This record gives sequence, C-alpha cells and structure tokens, in this order.
Amino acid sequence: MELKQIGIIGGGIMGGGIAQLCASHGYEVTLVEAEEGRLASSIQRVSKALERDVERGRLSAERFGRAIERLRGTTKLEELRDADLVIEAIPEDIVQKREVFRALGTTCRQTTILASNTSSLSLSEIASASGRNDRTIGLHFFNPPTVLKLVEVITTADTSPATVETAMVFCDSIDRITVRTQDSPGFVVNRLLVPFIFDAVRMVESQIASPEDVDSACKVGLSHAMGPLATADLIGLDTLVQIGEAMFAEFGDPRFKPPTLLRRLVSLGRLGRKSGIGILYKDPAVTGAPA
Ligand code: NAI
Repeated sequence: MELKQIGIIGGGIMGGGIAQLCASHGYEVTLVEAEEGRLASSIQRVSKALERDVERGRLSAERFGRAIERLRGTTKLEELRDADLVIEAIPEDIVQKREVFRALGTTCRQTTILASNTSSLSLSEIASASGRNDRTIGLHFFNPPTVLKLVEVITTADTSPATVETAMVFCDSIDRITVRTQDSPGFVVNRLLVPFIFDAVRMVESQIASPEDVDSACKVGLSHAMGPLATADLIGLDTLVQIGEAMFAEFGDPRFKPPTLLRRLVSLGRLGRKSGIGILYKDPAVTGAPA
C-alpha cells in the first residue's frame, strides 16, 4: 500500500519531531493537537526546527518550502479521515490512548493503518479499542526523532503481515533503521534503559554521588554520549514516571518503580528540558541559574 497522507496525533516532543521528519521526506502531514494554543506552538516549533535544518545545511531551501507546504495542523481528529497512516503520540496514558484509538476506529477509512508511539503500554490493549487489530502497529521512535534513527516496530498477535510490510517500507522511506519486537512492556530499549535511569536517580536520592558525577561517570567511564540523568531530562520526567508505572504494573519488579525523587520533581513541575528545569538540566532563562 502506498502512503501519502500521514496523520500525527499529539504535537509534543515526539509528535512534533515525527511530523517534521515525515514532512521533510515528502509526506502530506496533518498534525492534530488537543487545543488551538498548543497546536500553534507545536507548528511553530516544527517550522523553526526545519529552518534550523536549512541553516545547518541539512535541508535545501526548496525542500524546506515544500515541507512547510505539506504540514498542516488541526484540533479535529475527524480531519484524519483520509489519512493512509496515523501515528499517535499523546501522553503515556492507557485511558487517553484507548479513547483516541476508539475514535480513530470509527473516523478513519478501513484501509488506514493505525500506529502508536507508546513507550511501555500494551499495544494489544490500545489496538483493541480501535476495532482493527490487524491494522494496528507500534512505531516507537526515539528522542529526538529527527536525529535518532531507530524505530522499534512492535506487533501484536493480530497485526497482519501486510501492515508490518507497509510500516517497514514507511520507516525505510523516512530513513529510519528498524528492529522488530513483540508487544512486551518497554520493548527492547526501555526495558534496558528505564531501570538504568531509575538506579541513577536512586544513587542521587541516597547521596551516593551528585547528579553531575553520576552522568560524568557514565560518559567518561562507559563512553555514553549522554548520562542517564541528562537522558531523563530529555525524555521528560513526567513521561518517565508514566513509563515506569506502566512497566512496574506489568512486571511487579521494583526496579521499574519510579523513584520517589522523580515523583517529587514532577509534582513541583520540574519536568526536564520541556519545563526548563529537571533533575540535572537548568535553563538559565527559566531558573536564572547557570546551566
Ligand atoms: P509530550 O507531553 O511532549 O506531548 C504530548 C502532546 O500530546 C501534548 O502536546 C498534548 O497537548 C497532546 N495531546 C494530549 N492529548 C491529546 C489528544 N487527545 N489529541 C491530540 N493531542 C493531544 O509527550 P511526548 O514526550 O511527546 O510523548 C508522547 C508519546 O511518545 C508517549 O506515549 C511517550 O511515552 C512516547 N515517547 C516519548 C519519548 C520521549 O523521549 N519523550 C520517546 C519515545 C516515545
């Protein structure tokens, strides 16, 4: 099946980046946000990111112009009626995701493929809300989606081979590298990464080392490009708590339980980069403190 029109639901960290990626690779993109204010700032963020790509020589002026033309926004899910593929990237909450998939199941034409960017929730539970298990798949992009090439392609027991084939061709067309995984909490990367980040937070909680030293140890001692706490701030501490809760609910293993410090920071509105302050990250414009 040839894909032309892509719907993206949720224009936050991930949805905005996926929209940018699709528009710059020739797809018609409709970005759906929950309300007008968020929609406007999301479209503005995507446009600015595309402009930066031109400045850095990653995108020609001509491709930029075409990408901007191909990108449109709406707050109405019904406008995804004719999409060939819809990628959902709303918050990591099973109730909200099932609600969206229920609506997509009645709104989109029968051939539309529905994808979720969930990090940890059960794809089978999400798919069943849509009433089209065979055409639902997980496409788990990484943050930032325009930079990190990996997409985990997740299938349930009901995902059809044709859906998988179309999804693989799509990922290839936007220059991503895929790995296939079954519907299991956290798939491959988060199954490894989430307990690692939580252990780093617990070390800070127990005052074993400062946040800076925990990250420095991993960067210098393990050659990681980014420390676990900087990674937590990039993901979003609120999203990380939601991911941990979903994985802990499934596995019952305390390694997946979000540490108290992380929950407390989220309660204070310290969500990481997206709020200007997290566990390690401090945007001087927000905090007045050196970054
Ligand atoms: P985010 O909080 O940055 O963005 C979510 C967006 O969805 C918000 O802009 C919100 O207004 C919008 N939204 C909420 N309900 C909506 C609705 N019913 N219709 C349309 N828009 C709606 O969240 P983020 O980080 O982009 O995460 C989204 C999904 O991607 C989650 O499932 C998360 O687990 C997953 N993910 C996140 C990664 C990360 O590093 N942040 C990496 C890979 C996957």
